[in-house]
Amino acid sequence: MQITDAQQIINNAVAKLGQDELTESALVEHILPHFSRVLARNDRTNEIYLANHSLGRPLDLVADLIQGALDGWYEHLDGVWGPWLDARDAYREQVARLLNWNDPKGVVPKTSAAQGLRAVINALPSSTPNIVSTRCEFDSIDFVLKSYAHKGRASVTWIEPDEADLLRVEPIIDAIDQSTDLVVVSAVCFVTGQQVEGLDRLIKHAHANGCLVLLDTYHAMGVLDLDYLELGADFLIGGNYKYTRGGAGACFLAIHPRHLSPSGGVPERGSIFSIDTGWFAKEEPFAYKRSDDPAYAPGGDAWLEATPPILTYYQALPGIMLSNAIGIHRLRAYSLDQQQHLADQLVANGITPRLIHHRGAYLLVEHDDGHQAMAGLKDAGVNIDARPLPRSGRWVIRFCPDFLNTRDELTRAAQRVGRVLGSG
Ligand SMILES: Cc1ncc(COP(=O)(O)O)c(C=O)c1O
Repeated sequence: MQITDAQQIINNAVAKLGQDELTESALVEHILPHFSRVLARNDRTNEIYLANHSLGRPLDLVADLIQGALDGWYEHLDGVWGPWLDARDAYREQVARLLNWNDPKGVVPKTSAAQGLRAVINALPSSTPNIVSTRCEFDSIDFVLKSYAHKGRASVTWIEPDEADLLRVEPIIDAIDQSTDLVVVSAVCFVTGQQVEGLDRLIKHAHANGCLVLLDTYHAMGVLDLDYLELGADFLIGGNYKYTRGGAGACFLAIHPRHLSPSGGVPERGSIFSIDTGWFAKEEPFAYKRSDDPAYAPGGDAWLEATPPILTYYQALPGIMLSNAIGIHRLRAYSLDQQQHLADQLVANGITPRLIHHRGAYLLVEHDDGHQAMAGLKDAGVNIDARPLPRSGRWVIRFCPDFLNTRDELTRAAQRVGRVLGSG
């Protein structure tokens, strides 16, 4: 199967949903049949999958598209490079659409968010940048920053969340001064699902101090209908294996147009340019010309690296295309509705969930022993996960419905949770 065929199938299915808000009956009739492989699991097992914030469930089209990419290789050998690179560009275009990013070339494929972060730190003019970050960042980001600090390649100021384990922008703003080079912060915190409020103020303050901002969008993209370009962060990192159902390795770094050179060429020393690089970032890579100084491609291509992994694009495209075709605003409204239903059912079963007012796609139940809770719930047929809170250390179990979960499933899940975690 070709990408254009997959897009057509998705467009046809989504057209049948109509233009209005999503309903369970329309999703079941028109969209769920495209998930037949993963949903067949529901008949074979007793499990209700609520770990959609962790690893999203794939469309059937994923296998078809990957098979198509391989068929092209068998059939056309080196003639397959054209379609393979078109797949890369389609991936950049779909991610750009998801982020409301005006320029698909400003989206650079990466295999992890950490890879995007390292590219940005290495691109900064200072070889020992001052970075402000928070205790609420995902482990990969936390670990990269600590490794740079340990090697003497960065100095990091860490901001704590408040007593309720919520991240406030004011302490981040207070930590920024003229010596700060970069702020690294999540749009939605991975443990609590809290949507960080006031990012626009934070970004304005950082810029007024000559400091850049990198936003980790992992738990926001495909969930919140944000205009990231308007928000104005200098760099976004994120990946598609959660809400956009793209599987592992399909990540990206997006670079704000203000940091892209329309003409390319040899960058000025002391400017921001990527040294996590390779021949795909060269001006005219297929001309095989060499010069003493590195001459970069124009625009976002200057941030590309070497020969890219190709199959990841085919793997990721169906999920992102589906999210874009349905529209994030409709997915968001449906998700909030499902979360509310699950919360009500938990309460009806004696469990008090924690519903953070500004949140992403999941809700929380606090617990003293996350491992025990996870094991008990797994045994009872509820697939969730749990993480320790960054400040209090108490555990929160994360429950994330998605549109493959019916209301009936959520009701049954809440009954099981009540039996496992309830006091009675
Ligand atoms: C907020 C956030 N950032 C990044 C990642 C993944 O990081 P990486 O792609 O470096 O493994 C995750 C994964 O759960 C995450 O939740």
